[in-house]
Amino acid sequence: MTTPLLCQREAFSLPDDAHYLNCAYMGPLPKVAEEAGVAAIAKKRLPTRIVPPDAFWETDRLRALFARLVNVDDPQRVAIQPGVSYGVACAAKNLPVSSGQNIVMTHEQFPGNVYAWRRLAAESNAELRVATPPEGPGRAAVWNERLLDSIDSRTAIVAVPHVHWTDGTRFDLEAVGRRCRDVGAALIVDATQSVGAMPFDVQTIQPDVLICATYKWLLGPYALAFTYFSPRFDDGVPLEETWIARAGSEDFQRLVDYQDEYQPGAIRYDAAERSSFFLAPIAAASLELLLEWTPERIQIYCAELTKELLGEASALGYSVEDAAWRGSHLFGLRMPEGIDLVALQLALKTENISASLRGTALRLSPNVYNNQKDIEALMGVLSSAVR
Ligand SMILES: Cc1ncc(COP(=O)(O)O)c(C=O)c1O
Repeated sequence: MTTPLLCQREAFSLPDDAHYLNCAYMGPLPKVAEEAGVAAIAKKRLPTRIVPPDAFWETDRLRALFARLVNVDDPQRVAIQPGVSYGVACAAKNLPVSSGQNIVMTHEQFPGNVYAWRRLAAESNAELRVATPPEGPGRAAVWNERLLDSIDSRTAIVAVPHVHWTDGTRFDLEAVGRRCRDVGAALIVDATQSVGAMPFDVQTIQPDVLICATYKWLLGPYALAFTYFSPRFDDGVPLEETWIARAGSEDFQRLVDYQDEYQPGAIRYDAAERSSFFLAPIAAASLELLLEWTPERIQIYCAELTKELLGEASALGYSVEDAAWRGSHLFGLRMPEGIDLVALQLALKTENISASLRGTALRLSPNVYNNQKDIEALMGVLSSAVR
């Protein structure tokens, strides 16, 4: 039995009266990560304190921490990149697709995992297939069925999220992974909206590529992402030919002994200047916290925190997806008939509640720093809105 996680608000610098329920937009920086960042910046006052090779290889610690979080055996399978679009572009560059084949996605995916596939489909005369959700009850379960049905013997690539960024709908990636392996398709997963707050196991899902930006649920900095590449990509071509990804780059005396060989695993897909002296210590401090809290306990914390709220909201006519098919850290609250959305938005602002209105659903994305006061403030607004 796992020990339940208590509220971790003390680990953050959120003002008392800020009801921040918007981690899906951006995660707040924990205090230890902020301190690590300030120390990292101060280091550059005197560049001799940033000493090769150690400082350049600090990112190896990041690979190891992220690998532990998502259950990857070999940290060298993790590339250090600047964002999701970059990882998707690496995947698209190395996946052959021919005319008559198809690329499968879900409806209204975040654009960082869309444009590269649109280009690849257009350039190779392949079909772009989008699995759409139905309206009404059972929406997520049927959406998942439709996603599986879209994958056939002509599918070359399945590029999907783990949970949908607008409303937290969960895609059963174990089932999607099995289907991909049956038909020989590559599975590319953008888990930016789940990893950190929800368990993700690379050994069970077996994606070919798994990409996570760090600035949301990994509570890290902007302009940094981790991308796991399976052995399928071992002989691939990176977007950039960085010197640091070449064999022997540790030896700064011999950098002009140009090498054809790359560093092992996925390191060839690292972006230029991946050593990120400023960003890496911030991301590492947050990853260490997440490994201590664990995604499993964070999910449970969010579920417990919102259980009563969702019961009361449903009595007022609000509705939410079945818990089995959504994140507890990210979900859309659908409005009852006749709600004045403009007034609702204003009331949220007045009460200092941060959440995103997406169409006619309110996207709520709590985390370990949220407490009962946040929930009460939100419940106050939701009940006033139906009066
Ligand atoms: C699901 C998802 N993927 C990716 C991103 C960010 O993409 P990029 O790193 O390419 O800016 C976001 C940002 O909201 C997101 O919600």
